[in-house]
Amino acid sequence: MSILSTATSAAPLHTIDLIRKKRDGGALDAREIGFLAAGAADGTIPLEQLSAWLMAAYLRGLTLDETRALTVAMRDSGEKFDPSRLGKAAVDKHSTGGVGDKTSFLVAPLAAACGLAVPMISGRALGHTGGTLDKLEAIPGYRTALTLSEFETVLRKCGASIVSQTPALVPADRVLYALRDRTGTVESPGLICASILSKKLAAGLDALVLDVKTGSGAFLRKREEAEYLAALMVATAEGAGTRTVALLTDMGQPLGSTAGNWIELAECIDLLRGERPAESEDLRELSLILAGWMVCLGGKAESPEAGRGLAENALANGSGLRVFLEMVEAQGGDVTVFDDPKTTHKPGATQMLAAWESGFVEEMDTTAIGWAVQRLGAGREKAGEPVDPHAGILFHARRGARIERGQPLATLYATGPELLAEPVAILKQAVRIAATPPEPVALVSRIFTRENAEKHLQDAVKVVG
Ligand code: URA
Repeated sequence: MSILSTATSAAPLHTIDLIRKKRDGGALDAREIGFLAAGAADGTIPLEQLSAWLMAAYLRGLTLDETRALTVAMRDSGEKFDPSRLGKAAVDKHSTGGVGDKTSFLVAPLAAACGLAVPMISGRALGHTGGTLDKLEAIPGYRTALTLSEFETVLRKCGASIVSQTPALVPADRVLYALRDRTGTVESPGLICASILSKKLAAGLDALVLDVKTGSGAFLRKREEAEYLAALMVATAEGAGTRTVALLTDMGQPLGSTAGNWIELAECIDLLRGERPAESEDLRELSLILAGWMVCLGGKAESPEAGRGLAENALANGSGLRVFLEMVEAQGGDVTVFDDPKTTHKPGATQMLAAWESGFVEEMDTTAIGWAVQRLGAGREKAGEPVDPHAGILFHARRGARIERGQPLATLYATGPELLAEPVAILKQAVRIAATPPEPVALVSRIFTRENAEKHLQDAVKVVG
């Protein structure tokens, strides 16, 4: 009989036993998982032992109970935000990332205008995907690094606040994520799920809407992987006491007509002002669907459809725009830049890319497009690098559009003219023009709720370690 099976629940724990147990395919209990998360956060477990455990977890996979335990232990590893004092349901949206994915600037003010609190802790651009904080910092003066008490003040005043993670929030993830990055253990559903949810749930959410991307620009390209992660996150967050739903949405082309920093904000302001350019229709539609679910899970509507109706009213009557501008002002941003967003946009260099043949825009390799945006200066290759607020791409034609040779396909904005050539070459490869239109792709292809998530996990063939 092994030492582990005879140990009582109060027996001291030893990291080496937990590494061996996972290595040999065992499942750790909540106390054991809590011991590892606490040891990662306070530095009492050496990095080589954490790395070994991570690799064992990557190779063996984590059970749903282990994933839940890890999420909760990481969530509780540092300071947390307590929104209960706000007197409103706290609801957030998280997206797994993409190109031109700017729904946060619409859903946060719309859900707040419907009477919810939206404490949104967001991230920065890395790799081919953009970052909400970098986009917001295109507004002169906007402060993303608020203390938790400043965060609460903004939420009381405006109903929504979008900020960066504080240094003391979820320290276990800070250590484990950096190690995963260096040890080849990022792509594990259980570890990804615990990493994402621990940070979201540390904001004390009552409900969470997850936007899990699929398609050529998504973090998880294979549909089964995205479905598995979506179901896992719903089952995990529900188990941790937060009402959660996950929508599988299309990232087979950039969302809306822009990808970059300032130009994405400008597109959202146009929509909040009630404009409806055809190229932004998918962004408007997805934002209303996501906001509808937030309003429903936050208890303000009976169904997501009714929630969408309320969000649409908030868009039409200008209350969403009002919340957004109040939030920007409360966080130190200069709202006059939105008076005329086009004159605020001051790129270092501009180039129009014309269609090289006539036909239909058949395919857009969205990861490649994301890299083009990054190389124009809008994103970063390494954490900590500065980004250009004015770099990016404006698309004049979306997937399925009929386009004639010589007609504008996209306008590229770069920090300087020397940065234009490579992104232009990438775009020419990334966009395919064909004689026939492509099959339409559903914006939302699947929804996971607490009713179907666990069943999906049981049925799913596990596709990643
Ligand atoms: N984003 C996170 O925060 N964590 C992961 O593990 C992957 C993506």
